[in-house]
Amino acid sequence: MAEERIQKILSKAGLGARRKCEALITEGRVTVNGVTVSALGSKADPETEEIAVDGKRVKTVSSNARHIIMFNKPEKCITSASDSRGRPLVMDYFKDYPVRLFPVGRLDFDTEGLLLLTNDGNYAQEITHPKHKVFKTYEAVVAGIPSEETLEKLRVGIMLEDGPTAPAIVRSTGITRDRQRTTRRRDKPLPEVDAAVIHISIREGRKRQVRRMFLAVGHRVIRLRRIAIGKLKLGELKIGKWKVLTEREAELAKQTD
Ligand code: URA
Repeated sequence: MAEERIQKILSKAGLGARRKCEALITEGRVTVNGVTVSALGSKADPETEEIAVDGKRVKTVSSNARHIIMFNKPEKCITSASDSRGRPLVMDYFKDYPVRLFPVGRLDFDTEGLLLLTNDGNYAQEITHPKHKVFKTYEAVVAGIPSEETLEKLRVGIMLEDGPTAPAIVRSTGITRDRQRTTRRRDKPLPEVDAAVIHISIREGRKRQVRRMFLAVGHRVIRLRRIAIGKLKLGELKIGKWKVLTEREAELAKQTD
C-alpha cells in the first residue's frame, strides 16, 4: 500500500477533521514507528508502519475506502461517545463494526431519524460546517396549529438567545392529534392535543435549534425526526437499523438544491 499524508491517515482513522489532525502533528503528539513526526506533509504507510497519537497506537483503516453509514437513530439514545448517566449510546449499535466510526453532527436524546456516521473527518466537516450550507430537514410534530403568519416568521428568521436564525424552508404537511411529553417519568400522561406536522429545513446546527425555534413562536415540539440531509432521504430504513452508503448516496447528502 502506498504512503499517504499522516493527517489524512489520522482523519480516516476517526481522529477528527483534517485540521484537527494537522494540529496533533504540529503539537508533536504523533509518532511513526516510535519517532515523533511534527512536520506537516510527512507521509507514512498505514499498512506497514505503526502510527501512534500520545503513545497510543492508531487503528488505521486497512483499505483506502471511506465508510459512510446511514443510521435511523431511535429516541432515548445519545450521540456522544459516553454518558455519565449510563443512557444508551448510538455507538452501542456499532461495537462490532470493523472500522472506527464517529457520528456526523448530533441529534438530541429525544430526536430520532437520519444520522450519518463515518471514518472520514473531512466528509463530516462538509456536512456539518455551516459554511457548506447543507440543509437538514426535520419532521416536527408540534402542539397546536401554527398560523401561516407564524410559519412565515420561521422562514424569514427569528431571534433566539444565541442570535437570529438563518432563513429556513418551512411547510405544514398535515394535522394530527398527539400527546405532549412529560419530562418526569412518574408524571401522568398528558391529554391529547391538536398538533401539526411541519417539515422544516435548516442550514445551521445550533443546540436544540428546531425545538427552540418552535417554542419561540409558541409551539412546543412533541416529536422530532430528521428525515433528510441535503438530498439524502431517510426513506424506509427502520428505527435502530443502519446501512452502508454507496459513494453516490454519500454525495447526495452534500447536495442542497
Ligand atoms: N434540532 C433540535 O432541536 N434537535 C435536534 O436533535 C436536531 C435539531
